Amino acid sequence: MKRALGVCYYPEHWPEKIWAKDAAQMVDAGITWVRIGEFAWSRIEPEPGRFTFDWLDRAIATLAAVGLKIVLGTPTCTPPRWMLEKHPDMLALDREGHPRKFGSRRHYCFSHAGYRAESGRIAEVLGDRYGRDPRIQAWQIDNEYGCHDTVLSYSKAARDAFRDWLAQRYQSPQALNAAWGNVFWSMEYTDLDQIDLPNLTVTQANPSHELAFRRFSSDQVVRYHEVQVAALRARTDAPLIHNYMGRVLDFDHFDVGRSIDISSWDSYPIGFLSDRLDASPERKARYLRQGDPDMQAFHHDLYRAVGRDNRWWVMEQQPGPVNWAPYNPAPLPGMVRLWTWEAFAHGAEVVSYFRWRQAPFAQEQMHAGLLRPDNAPAPGLAEARLVADELSQMPDVEQTRAPVALIFDYASDWSWSVLPQGADFTYFGLMMDAYRGLRRLGLSVDILPSSTTDLSPYALVLAPGLASVPTALADALGSTLALIGPRSNAVTPELTIPTPLGPNLPGLDVTVARVESLPPGITRPVSGGGAIHRWSEDLEGRAEVILATEAGDPVMMRSGMTSYLGGWPDDALWQRILLALCAEAGLDTTILPEGVRIRDGKYFTYAFNYNSEDSVIKGEKIPAAGVRWWPRQPRAKA
Ligand code: GAL
Repeated sequence: MKRALGVCYYPEHWPEKIWAKDAAQMVDAGITWVRIGEFAWSRIEPEPGRFTFDWLDRAIATLAAVGLKIVLGTPTCTPPRWMLEKHPDMLALDREGHPRKFGSRRHYCFSHAGYRAESGRIAEVLGDRYGRDPRIQAWQIDNEYGCHDTVLSYSKAARDAFRDWLAQRYQSPQALNAAWGNVFWSMEYTDLDQIDLPNLTVTQANPSHELAFRRFSSDQVVRYHEVQVAALRARTDAPLIHNYMGRVLDFDHFDVGRSIDISSWDSYPIGFLSDRLDASPERKARYLRQGDPDMQAFHHDLYRAVGRDNRWWVMEQQPGPVNWAPYNPAPLPGMVRLWTWEAFAHGAEVVSYFRWRQAPFAQEQMHAGLLRPDNAPAPGLAEARLVADELSQMPDVEQTRAPVALIFDYASDWSWSVLPQGADFTYFGLMMDAYRGLRRLGLSVDILPSSTTDLSPYALVLAPGLASVPTALADALGSTLALIGPRSNAVTPELTIPTPLGPNLPGLDVTVARVESLPPGITRPVSGGGAIHRWSEDLEGRAEVILATEAGDPVMMRSGMTSYLGGWPDDALWQRILLALCAEAGLDTTILPEGVRIRDGKYFTYAFNYNSEDSVIKGEKIPAAGVRWWPRQPRAKA
């Protein structure tokens, strides 16, 4: 399959007389896919049951006439105003119990049965009309579940559904009380209908109660999603897609991904750097116009794993400055091309820019497109066109297996956000650090779910922060060179402390006797170089001590091929640990210059320079914000 470019287009935002010219210009820029429709409910169904498809029919005809392939979105993330007359209680409530009102988007509660049925209904209506239309070559369901903090809702609909969910999971109040430890503070229930949502409590609610609510909320996203999947599956054979967001962890994307064909995500590197990355001010300044060199790659690898058969796209690619981060600098010349190639190097089939033309009105009027609001080309357009030219000379989609795997588990994020124990202990931060450590050594990484049962294709596997390790995964980890911890297998799936204490992994005689979190600036230096920061564990047991603090306390212990790491390493310590494990695994490593990253595709090895100055890698100069590729050589040592 050929790799391709796409663009997000909103015909309903523009006079009809310019559609044909827009379409022709898209083709001229080398774009082959166009996504439409995902916010257009008020124009498709202006009043309940009255449909106005004429404009959409003409838009589809205009775009298809020049050969563009269409992704049609279901508009369910923007219910029109009349929907609230029909379902006044469909809004989500925030933690304080305030409604998240009409006037922007994503104003619905995933648990509201009436709205869920309306979403299924509009998906059916669209599927009936366009499901067998060959011009519609893919469908996007909804838009960015969870964006704008929309997974957790404290509505009555959520409360009632939560009680049902609890009844199915625990069967009786006695079982629930025992699982959660409700004897503590006399929190015992005698009827499951007494259980409320875990907000507005005097102090923290029982962590087990909160974790149950997080699990339930994730399941509600899946349940909501599957109504539209069922509606469309019955009406189309075209692939179904959802566009996930960056660093949204409130629902299990693997569960959503299971029922659809292609995973996609929306990549806004500069917005993410400013808005949702735990990085020092120096690092943010250094990558101000480029984005963090690992943030995009991490999500590419994560969403590749979420995609069925590893099929994935970037549905929205930042084309210039965005509007929604605290600061919105413009990309360095070259970055739009770099981001696009980076996605292809990680196996993307399509990269689609958001959006064709900058809107002159409403919330995103300050958000760049490939064209300016006055129709002149914005700088991103020429870079997209260049990629299209380059792509025409390149082979098909480059899917390949990486030699190293990192286990990623959404429920671990829920556990550690409910029970962080240290203000800066985030699962995402720990995962990013581990990932960054591997990528700095020039390694390509596969991210895998915790439901994985076979790790035999991997030379090395990392499972930091994995709150509860499923038995099948524990067995698989035991027969691979693996680094586990910190904080792995530390709690039960109900978020209570197990006995024996963690990590309690087969064949590994290590016990975490005590943990402490360390405030910023406090470190525990490790003999031989590097230090532990943020999180530190006291380790006991008869396993071999591989690393110890300068004070002589074990930091890393090992039995057989399993190593347990009892703390959060700084960059230097990650490097030491990973270099040693990679050498043992026979993996060829290269300590890359700051800001340079490498990815092995199937046919080519790609290098990306996120720096604002030239860098040299393997004797080759890569310009600032530049990309190079060369035919792939075998990289593992024989
Ligand atoms: C995404 C969203 C788009 C648009 C874009 C702006 O989160 O899916 O509709 O809002 O951000 O950067």
